[in-house]
Amino acid sequence: MIDFPLVAVVLAAGKGTRFKSEKPKVLHTVLGKPMIWYTLYSVRWIKPQKTLIVVGHKKEEVINAIDCDGCQFVYQEQQLGTGHAVYTAREHFKDFDGYVLIVNGDTPLIRGETLHNAGEFLKALVRYEGANLENYRGYRNKSVAGIVITARLPSPYGYGRIIKDKDHRVVKIVEEKDATPEEKQINEVNSGIYIFYAPYLYQALEKLENNNAQKEYYLTDVIDILRQEGKYTYALEIPDYTEILGVNDRLQLAGVENILKERYITFWALNGTTFHNPQSIWIEFDVDLSKDVEIYQNVMLQGKTFIDEGTVIEANCIIKNSKIGKNVRILANSYIEDSEIKDGAVVGPFARIRNNAVIGEEAVIGNFVEIKNSIIGKRTNARHLTYLGDAEIGEDVNIGAGTITCNYDGFKKHKTIIKDRAFIGSDTMLVAPVVIGEEAITGSGSVITKDVPDKALAIERNQQKIIENYAEKRKKKYEKKD
Ligand code: UD1
Ligand code: CA
Repeated sequence: MIDFPLVAVVLAAGKGTRFKSEKPKVLHTVLGKPMIWYTLYSVRWIKPQKTLIVVGHKKEEVINAIDCDGCQFVYQEQQLGTGHAVYTAREHFKDFDGYVLIVNGDTPLIRGETLHNAGEFLKALVRYEGANLENYRGYRNKSVAGIVITARLPSPYGYGRIIKDKDHRVVKIVEEKDATPEEKQINEVNSGIYIFYAPYLYQALEKLENNNAQKEYYLTDVIDILRQEGKYTYALEIPDYTEILGVNDRLQLAGVENILKERYITFWALNGTTFHNPQSIWIEFDVDLSKDVEIYQNVMLQGKTFIDEGTVIEANCIIKNSKIGKNVRILANSYIEDSEIKDGAVVGPFARIRNNAVIGEEAVIGNFVEIKNSIIGKRTNARHLTYLGDAEIGEDVNIGAGTITCNYDGFKKHKTIIKDRAFIGSDTMLVAPVVIGEEAITGSGSVITKDVPDKALAIERNQQKIIENYAEKRKKKYEKKD
């Protein structure tokens, strides 16, 4: 939380030329969400009074993809640089006696806590100047213009370099393309995240020029302009440089995605999850894990997925928007989507569970079994090669290998109901709508088109004929032909 008047401006108008993509850069995804989602999450975490998002290139697409309650969009028609982008939004902080937080939309790893710390740093600087914290008008004639978040990168190439004076004030920021060989040696770089005193920023923006290598209006020049008027910007150098990594191309996107994944895995590992070969495991933001969960290689946990205590997920499983109970075993190569697996169930290997399926306690869903929009009761087994769609299956039911619910007649989906303790013989075709009663039995290979009463046997099959010595007869038939 920031406890002083603050407007946030997130820059997202750029095309992202280096992505070589039809899709606007900020919509390229990091762990399943558009990269700008993370930036906005952190910005909103500190609760600014207003959040403005500057959009331009393919703005409709960007606006539609951003789910941000209360955010306002500002349209930058031509993308003439980061300074021009903020200039476009300036009416929103005209006559605003507070601060403006500016964040590049292509910096997804910044933490909310770090933005909070930047606010605290600014407050400390202002207090040092002797300003009255309760009355922000008191800041107006002070020399603190704002702060910029910086970090030292192992390889600073491509970033703006921070030039400081001996009092650690930022003299200016020099872009890679404008830097002298000596300036390029500096490894402290600009994050693209700043907080400026709004009235100072407002007037400095008017003075920006584009006489640089890229013929752009650089936001960074605001710092130099203000300094010449005796108003200084200070650098908050943060220890974890990964937070400020910008994403300009697809290699950087992959790099950022790996770092974020590692952050999530570190968090869950320290909270009681075992990961085997963690580098290969994919975990998204909304995943929630209880303790003693064990996850093997190449598992993807996506969307809002919860996994309860003691559950084991074997290799190559994908689990998306699903709830997995306690002591469940999801065996290798299973795909579970929008479904629930209750305590003690076993699923897979090679199972597919989807569309609001619910697998009951201690049920066994075996290999090459697909369950769609169905409820499977406690201890019910469907161990091999089966499709159950739009079905309601009771407790202790046995579904034989090869059983299929024929749920679709080409126009509509129909329901199959199988009651408790029924025994479905292998290769039964259940032509829905159909109800199989309690403890009812179907004969293997039957095509069941009518309801089966409780405890009855339904068998639909031709009588088996036996022709004795047929093999010999057949041989003779061929001998005659020769
Ligand atoms: C910028 C900084 C650089 C810093 C780096 C950190 C400037 C001049 N340079 O460089 O010092 O080290 O970020 O990642 O600010 N955008 C607009 N409208 C525009 C241009 C850009 O909205 O007209 C948006 C982009 O969509 C992007 C952000 O601003 O989200 C940054 O623009 P980008 O071109 O990526 O700047 P960098 O070259 O990375
Ligand atoms: Ca960038």
